[in-house]
Amino acid sequence: MPRRPPRKPDPSLDLTAHLLTLDAVPCPCNPAALFTCPAPVELEVGSGKGLFLLTASGHTPGRNFLGVELAGGYARMCAGRLATAARTNARIIQGDATFLVRSMLPDACLGGMHVYFPDPWWKARHRKRRVLSAEFLRHAARVLPAGATLHVWTDVEEYFEESMGFAAATGLFAAARGEQAPPPEHDLDYRTHFERRTRLAGAPVWRAALDRNERPAGCERQQPPA
Ligand SMILES: C[S@@+](CC[C@H](N)C(=O)[O-])C[C@H]1O[C@@H](n2cnc3c(N)ncnc32)[C@H](O)[C@@H]1O
Repeated sequence: MPRRPPRKPDPSLDLTAHLLTLDAVPCPCNPAALFTCPAPVELEVGSGKGLFLLTASGHTPGRNFLGVELAGGYARMCAGRLATAARTNARIIQGDATFLVRSMLPDACLGGMHVYFPDPWWKARHRKRRVLSAEFLRHAARVLPAGATLHVWTDVEEYFEESMGFAAATGLFAAARGEQAPPPEHDLDYRTHFERRTRLAGAPVWRAALDRNERPAGCERQQPPA
């Protein structure tokens, strides 16, 4: 059985090739310019401890993977894992994914988008903090070209149904396809850390893949505040 990576990155690790902060990224941001090899860029929103970025970049060397994570500690942990594995096709930005997607990314610039187990923000007064808002989904559709896929997985049925409703309301995605997760064969054989936690607890997971259709985007990139 493979050993789990260490929880904290080795403080002597050089993270400069893997960790960026949002204010160091040019606006507008051409995500392809953040990588040395030309390849489609897949964005993961809220990467947490970075299991998806680590495994996807290893399994799919012909694509680039960009994470964006609000929490500095998790972003560093994730960059540490990518640096330890010497990934050249994966990086993480520490910052707010909603700002990156709405205000920094140009139209049709990504090869795919992944949102796994976004924070549910249960209290009514905190709902506006949910990443998968109607506005975010309009911009997700704007930054994805026709045929690219948005993956949404969550353990919160109500959040899943709400976000599927927002996605359908854009008119910019085909009907959601269900996604299957194969039975895990070892401890790292899950899409993300939260998926592992949820499945080991025996709780259900809702999964959808939404393919961008051919219609033009219904909104323009928001101008960042001067
Ligand atoms: C419940 S955790 C899930 C982490 C990971 N996707 C997984 O499945 O293991 C949600 C993550 O999203 C991050 N997050 C929340 N809001 C965010 C935002 N606006 N931009 C970027 N990351 C965000 C949180 O810091 C947290 O790491």
